[in-house]
Amino acid sequence: MLTFLGIESSCDDTAAAIVRFDPDAAQPATILSSVVEGQTDLHAAFGGVVPEIAARAHAERLDGCIEAALTEAGLTFGDLDAIAVTAGPGLIGGVLSGVMMAKGLSAATGLPLVGVNHLAGHALTPRLTDAVEFPYLLLLVSGGHCQFLIAYGPDSFRRLGGTIDDAPGEAFDKVAKLLGLGQPGGPIVEKRAAMGDAKRFSLPRPLLDRPGCDMSFSGLKTAVLRLRDQLIELQGGLYHQDVSDICAAFQRAMTDVLVEKSRRALALYLDEAPTKPVLAVAGGVAANQPIRQGLMSVCAELGVRFLAPPLRLCTDNAAMIAYAGLERFLAGHSDGFDLSARPRWPLDQTAPALLGSGKKGAKA
Ligand code: KG4
Ligand code: ZN
Repeated sequence: MLTFLGIESSCDDTAAAIVRFDPDAAQPATILSSVVEGQTDLHAAFGGVVPEIAARAHAERLDGCIEAALTEAGLTFGDLDAIAVTAGPGLIGGVLSGVMMAKGLSAATGLPLVGVNHLAGHALTPRLTDAVEFPYLLLLVSGGHCQFLIAYGPDSFRRLGGTIDDAPGEAFDKVAKLLGLGQPGGPIVEKRAAMGDAKRFSLPRPLLDRPGCDMSFSGLKTAVLRLRDQLIELQGGLYHQDVSDICAAFQRAMTDVLVEKSRRALALYLDEAPTKPVLAVAGGVAANQPIRQGLMSVCAELGVRFLAPPLRLCTDNAAMIAYAGLERFLAGHSDGFDLSARPRWPLDQTAPALLGSGKKGAKA
């Protein structure tokens, strides 16, 4: 049996968690505690995450989160077997705060240190929650990430494609901002879309006409901006119904792109003849009901199991970092005090580099 502390601070959530692994149990991994302290309030006025503010808040809050995670689990450092920490990719100041904290704790307690790729944390979550077997296909859709990955092992991923600009959550947030709705935009746009007519306006489905699994969402956001401006010029303003109809059209376009690209990614994955095929989703956008429904029906059509972990484990958390650390440790890996914080760290080193970087930092 192994008990790991996980530490996460790569974006705007400060998090600590304790995960226990018992290979003989029916469900080998158990989350003993998971503490997440968000920073939405600190960045609200700036329209995006401010790296310096995020880093400072992580440095101030990490010890409290770790203490709370230990208390919630009813454990002390003496009960732990190792410390896993996000070592990238992400906003470098935040990643550094976590890595320095983990090194300090490791030096003081003598516990082994395991550096974890944040994206591996998301990608391995279906194993934490449902003990899914490799290989499975993962769609990561959040405010900072958007990619299809085939997971072959704890350290082995193939990237089939991803966004070349904005992440879907980022597009939801920007559209909400354009329409004068609140933040985070995803849930609000979804609510307004439910009251709207998706057919009244036609919006583009970027890159759908091109082969492959790459996606692009910045043109869709710009199309919403143009549509908004045209309506304002024509009518002198936007009616409540206009906003709902734009949200509906935007959400439909986003769903169509994600579902069609998932169909293509599934075809590539199924080519490898997995015995129990699984598509798992992770990231905040996985909470969107029409997107979820769309993905579920493609999976049903193709005979693939669809898996959506509970939302608190889809969004950033430290339980996934503790678990990914456990998998690395069990595979014989740990790190020394030379572990470095990496702003960029693609899971699939052979895939071409992603362009640009989102409002929440580098995408891989
Ligand atoms: O995974 P997450 O909590 O954080 C990272 O980005 O890492 O995802 C947050 C993103 C936000 O952009 C938010 O607008 C989006 O997920 N989101 C949604 C929904 N709920 C959250 N997007 C669409 N529909 C939703 N219901
Ligand atoms: Zn994340």
